[in-house]
Amino acid sequence: MDSRNLLRFLFFTFIIALLLLLTLTNIPRPLPLSNDVELPDCATNNRFIKHPSKPKTTTRLHTADVPHHPLDPLTLTELDKVRSILLSNALFQNSKTYALHSVVLEEPDKYVVLTWDHGDALPPRKASVIARVNSETHVLTVDISSGDVIKVDVGEHSGYPTMTMEDMTSSTWAPLANAEFNRTIIARGVDLKDLACLPISLGWFGKSEEGRRLIKVQCYSMEGTANFYMRPIEGLTVVLDMDTKQVVEITDKGKSIPIPKSAGTDYRFSAQSAKINLVNPISIEQPKGPSFTIEDHLVKWANWEFHLKPDPRAGVVISRARVKDPNTGKIRNVMYKGFTSELFVPYMDPTDAWYFKTYMDAGEYGFGLQAMPLDPLNDCPRNAYYMDGVFAAGDGKPYVRSNMVCVYESYAGDIGWRHSESPITGLEIREVRPKVTLVVRMAASVANYDYIVDWEFQADGLIRVKVGLSGILMVKGTSYDNMNQVNQPENLHGTLLSENVVGVIHDHYITFYLDMDVDGSDNSFVKVNIKRETTSPEESPRLSYLKAVRNVVKTEKDAQVKLKLYDPSEYHIVNPSKKTRVGNPVGYKLVPGGTAASLLDLDDPPQKRGAFTNNQIWVTPYNKSEEWAGGLFTYQSHGDDTLAVWSERDRPIENKDIVMWYTLGFHHVPCQEDYPIMPTVSSSFDLKPVNFYESNPILNIPPHFEKELPVCSAAATA
Ligand SMILES: *[C@@H]1O[C@H](CO)[C@@H](O)[C@H](O)[C@H]1NC(C)=O
Ligand SMILES: *[C@@H]1O[C@H](CO)[C@@H](O)[C@H](O)[C@H]1NC(C)=O
Repeated sequence: MDSRNLLRFLFFTFIIALLLLLTLTNIPRPLPLSNDVELPDCATNNRFIKHPSKPKTTTRLHTADVPHHPLDPLTLTELDKVRSILLSNALFQNSKTYALHSVVLEEPDKYVVLTWDHGDALPPRKASVIARVNSETHVLTVDISSGDVIKVDVGEHSGYPTMTMEDMTSSTWAPLANAEFNRTIIARGVDLKDLACLPISLGWFGKSEEGRRLIKVQCYSMEGTANFYMRPIEGLTVVLDMDTKQVVEITDKGKSIPIPKSAGTDYRFSAQSAKINLVNPISIEQPKGPSFTIEDHLVKWANWEFHLKPDPRAGVVISRARVKDPNTGKIRNVMYKGFTSELFVPYMDPTDAWYFKTYMDAGEYGFGLQAMPLDPLNDCPRNAYYMDGVFAAGDGKPYVRSNMVCVYESYAGDIGWRHSESPITGLEIREVRPKVTLVVRMAASVANYDYIVDWEFQADGLIRVKVGLSGILMVKGTSYDNMNQVNQPENLHGTLLSENVVGVIHDHYITFYLDMDVDGSDNSFVKVNIKRETTSPEESPRLSYLKAVRNVVKTEKDAQVKLKLYDPSEYHIVNPSKKTRVGNPVGYKLVPGGTAASLLDLDDPPQKRGAFTNNQIWVTPYNKSEEWAGGLFTYQSHGDDTLAVWSERDRPIENKDIVMWYTLGFHHVPCQEDYPIMPTVSSSFDLKPVNFYESNPILNIPPHFEKELPVCSAAATA
């Protein structure tokens, strides 16, 4: 095999979508939910996977897909139509080169979606297109039925659109056309046939990253392992012009650094010589089938209903999340739209081959583009339903990313609510309700790293958003093979994980866009400050107590929140014109989870680009064109179009249609357990009803009774 073929193999994840296109096979659409089918003990009446042992071949054809909801993503047919409209447009016909960096549904205006009802005609279907034509960026709106193409003025901003998959794959091979590159690799003792290279976004640090689309390429040896990430050719960086594919510069500052060994790096099950069973097989059985339905993109479960769609940039978009009120039976609005707006992952090593590693995974790489097919039974439990992504490649041709999102009911043995009485009262009460939730999951593999994003809906109205980090560390080669050789451990910029391998310290920030519409669009942001009050000597034997002081936030700047343990607040989004029976404004509160804040200098170029992490919470007035926290064009951007810039306008946000932004943060000082692949680390935040209901909304749900549960004789008696 020559190295070109090897690289192709190695980066199969990038082109798997294209391959899948060629291997489409048909499987039936989900059957309607049936509650009265009795199956034998332990069998699962899952509508979706009748034969879970062969899930990987169950790719759905999407040729017959038709949109039924104003927010349904562009179908395969519509994407084809957009492509042919564009190709017959003068802009493209007269072009030497073009690439489509994004083709997605242009969502109708919010009021159109809000007033649309099932059975109504769909508003005109339009595509929002970001194209590079003759090396210039254009934002276009394509009317799919009329064929009109309109140029959209998005203002003057630095930066380039999200890379296409083709940008990324071709960048990894391009250096091989350069003889000096080949010589350098061979001089480092790596056979060209063992070479694996990664396309690394290079951020922006000044003049040298301006005026053209650039990328840095770094390489690894895959000799003796599939985990090439653990075998860096340290210090070797190729700067490439992404448009011409010309090598701009090669730096090799790691000649004295050995390539770490391959032994012990492979993480594949098949590569493990000793396999250990720690627990017995386990799964959830649903003999009566799941309690949710999915019609196209509309999910209904328990008292919830929401629209779910895969998105090439955001990954997963949840829209129109609404919940049925148990008192009135009415469906109430909670959130108009929620998604992962941007990620920011700065590495903490200022040296030549590392300083620029400050990834923005959504805007640069496409968080959804990097979401690979989920692995049934392992990524999601057996009772999961899978949803495909239908996206456009750089040439505009549609492809199917199968099993990109899964939806399943989760019963983790948790408790929804409980109370038992002690004998003191003479009452024999043990009232407990189990907690069953609905999880929407996707997992993006942005090169080495894996992000698992869950939207978990609870029957009590709470939405938990959880991000799990796993995958493989980006490691640095070093000449040290033991800490006894290291004089100043902090100058390693990380932790020695194995001989010649340093796990470099880095942060992860995941910023969520949360357009809350609590019982309507006009909401207010209220900081409920929990303050210590001191008493006067005559007043009470107590010296101090806590008060909750409500501050309705008037403008954007006052809504910039840095979390403080010793000056805490609750963060409510309320509808000031809707009150409960006893007069509290109905609301939802953001409950931050374990979080980390960026400590970088605010003037550090990466932090300027990632300025949306300067605060953990922001609230902005709704603006259709302010969705991407790092700006519409993040690649090589200077930070002139971020959430931080918008928020500085200090617009009024009281009793208005507002958007809340929350950033989950992680500091990651690697440890040896992260080698050669990381056990998942998770963090989450909640959107929790606060005076939204008149009382506990799951008061009258039943407990579990033995007689109603599936009987698994073999396992249950074990
Ligand atoms: C570099 O090596 C690759 C793989 O052997 C080969 O295909 C390519 O032609 C070489 N490049 C040059 C400029 O010699
Ligand atoms: C909406 O957002 C765009 C992009 O940030 C901005 O140019 C425009 O002024 C905003 N409109 C309002 C009313 O804030």
